[in-house]
Amino acid sequence: MRGRLVVGNWKMNGGLRQNDALLAELRAGWAPPPGREMVVCVPYPYLWQAQAALSGSVIGWGAQDVSQYAGGAYTGEVSAAMVAEFGCRYALVGHSERRARGETEAAVADKAAAALAAGLTPIVCVGETLAQREAGSTGAVVLGQLDAVADRLGDRIAAVVLAYEPVWAIGTGLTASPDQAQTVHRLLRERLGAAATVPLLYGGSVKPDNAAALFACQDVDGALVGGASLKADEFLAIARA
Ligand code: 13P
Repeated sequence: MRGRLVVGNWKMNGGLRQNDALLAELRAGWAPPPGREMVVCVPYPYLWQAQAALSGSVIGWGAQDVSQYAGGAYTGEVSAAMVAEFGCRYALVGHSERRARGETEAAVADKAAAALAAGLTPIVCVGETLAQREAGSTGAVVLGQLDAVADRLGDRIAAVVLAYEPVWAIGTGLTASPDQAQTVHRLLRERLGAAATVPLLYGGSVKPDNAAALFACQDVDGALVGGASLKADEFLAIARA
């Protein structure tokens, strides 16, 4: 069965003191119904803090990126194996905010492979821009992004989590309607074929007041949450929805 997963992406936000408060509130407030999982993806310097605050809890933690390389002379890069040493189970790869700054399909595919090789579950992000949606190419864009990773991983595609995040809905307050989300999720599910049990998350302005309608869609298995994951009450409300 496909699990239900709500993932917080803190992006480049946080600080030691705020993180302590947020992580403690999440830990105290999250009593998951069976089959539901909560994860926070924090900036690299705070992985140790998430590990310390969440170890022994039912909340998982992860990174927001990993290097496509295993190790060596790559100044500023952080390998998947390093991230795994901090008890992470997940890493985002291919977030649109990184793709927009030049991350290629090949790099995203290599990062997904690097994460799997280190024992992490990559949360592979796909999504179209507003111009692409208006040009009618949403399906071609997201399936192309999925194919680039699936071609690289082969059967191991079954071990990823996939997140559909329309770029026009990220941080804008414009959420895809449940119908828009379901349509794209169905396309992705069909393309996954034998790997159709891969959890499909929706991301883009998910809030407590729209989460339940999105989660009611047949092919939406959870959410990747940005802004609302920085507030414990909102993130908990989404996870409970
Ligand atoms: P918002 O929830 O702030 O729109 O961000 C979505 C996102 O990019 C999560 O990865």
